[in-house]
Amino acid sequence: MSEEQLVVRKIKEGTVLDHVEQGRALKVLEALNIDGKDGNVVTVAMNVFSKKLGKKDIIKIENRFLKPEETNRIALIAPKATANLIRNYQVVEKRKVEIPDKFVDVFKCPNPTCISNSNEPISHIIDVVKKDPPTLKCRYCGRLLSPNELI
Ligand code: CTP
Ligand code: ZN
Repeated sequence: MSEEQLVVRKIKEGTVLDHVEQGRALKVLEALNIDGKDGNVVTVAMNVFSKKLGKKDIIKIENRFLKPEETNRIALIAPKATANLIRNYQVVEKRKVEIPDKFVDVFKCPNPTCISNSNEPISHIIDVVKKDPPTLKCRYCGRLLSPNELI
């Protein structure tokens, strides 16, 4: 039995976000708009031992099967994350997160005078201009941004 299994049991149905960078679990939940209000069990483990990463965070979201367009929202926050879809205790799909073409309502533009930070009811849209290394740009004010400025 691995160290990890000692702290978090296996789930029957749902999505396991594994290999989340240490300390990023709560930001991942926020980016996915997961707040527990739908009543499903959500388990968060932080600082779990990992051979690959040294330490990692893990999130288990029961009874929800996150689509790539959902899990890709976390690509800057947890670039090494793996999304595992579990059905009847088996991993039926395993995929890496990928940087999407844009982030909608995941990050706020750090420019305080940007129109997206006014009281206008508009989405926060950050376009990806280059994926490797990730280079981003606010759709509204055009400011070029690095992942560190957004997370
Ligand atoms: N998992 C779970 N419940 C299950 C099956 C798997 O919570 N019924 C979790 C495992 O604990 C692990 C993740 O889902 O955190 C992926 O499972 P698995 O592919 O079996 O693990 P590894 O082979 O270690 O994955 P990887 O190769 O991605 O490191
Ligand atoms: Zn802006």
